[in-house]
Amino acid sequence: LLTFAIVGTYAVARVLLTPETFGEFGHYRGVALKELASRQPTYAGAKACAECHDDQVTRLAKGDHKTIACETCHGPGRKHADDPDEKPPKGGNSLCLRCHEANPARPAFLKQVTTKDHFEGRCAECHVAHQPKEVP
Ligand code: HEC
Ligand code: HEC
Ligand code: HEC
Ligand code: HEC
Repeated sequence: LLTFAIVGTYAVARVLLTPETFGEFGHYRGVALKELASRQPTYAGAKACAECHDDQVTRLAKGDHKTIACETCHGPGRKHADDPDEKPPKGGNSLCLRCHEANPARPAFLKQVTTKDHFEGRCAECHVAHQPKEVP
């Protein structure tokens, strides 16, 4: 009797609690696709920046950071790309350290520094972000 009660409760709960479109395409709600697709993307993409910042694109392409997209360092830029009056974030030390803080898990070709042993101050004071081998 107890087994029947447990299995029965489960079966009823499953019918009552399963969202309507669950399983329509797979193991998720079918309407979730529409919900996600309706979100506004916050990134504009590298091509959008090139439209107005040709000079920076050329500069970046000459240096070690050529493989890095603008928005990796500047943050999501759709608002700014749509309306240049909206300033994008300029990027602080934490952005550089996301890739350059010493970490044994990083590939060896990537130059790494240990913050407390490296120089103090803003990274961009001593390294040109767009051409990292240059000195400002
Ligand atoms: C429609 C033209 C346009 C597009 C597209 C555009 N920008 Fe700008 N951006 C401007 C203008 C105008 C300024 C202000 C003048 C200046 O400082 O050169 C500016 C300034 C900036 C600045 C300097 C802000 C400051 O405080 O000095 C950064 C960084 C920047 N843009 C990054 C980006 C990135 C990253 C993208 C791509 C997501 C982008 N921009 C796309 C027009 C544009
Ligand atoms: C490696 C990180 C990084 C990448 C990649 C990067 N930027 Fe920057 N960018 C910075 C930093 C940091 C500054 C601020 C420099 C400073 O404060 O002296 C800056 C400054 C700027 C400025 C302000 C003008 C200037 O020269 O100071 C513009 C405009 C700009 N970036 C646009 C772009 C565009 C467009 C791209 C993509 C083609 C891009 N950046 C890629 C880190 C980056
Ligand atoms: C998305 C990852 C990424 C970010 C963010 C990034 N870098 Fe780099 N950086 C690289 C790669 C990849 C190289 C080329 C490989 C190398 O030389 O280490 C490089 C090269 C460098 C070099 C040249 C080292 C040398 O002498 O060869 C310096 C200096 C540097 N970056 C400083 C910075 C600074 C300052 C910032 C922040 C404005 C920054 N990086 C942000 C990935 C990144
Ligand atoms: C006061 C100036 C100064 C500041 C601030 C500074 N650096 Fe450096 N950085 C240097 C000098 C000088 C070198 C080359 C000599 C050396 O390796 O010590 C260097 C070298 C590097 C290298 C290459 C290391 C290698 O193994 O060849 C990387 C990567 C780097 N810096 C990243 C950064 C990051 C990220 C920041 C911000 C957290 C930063 N630096 C802040 C002066 C500075």
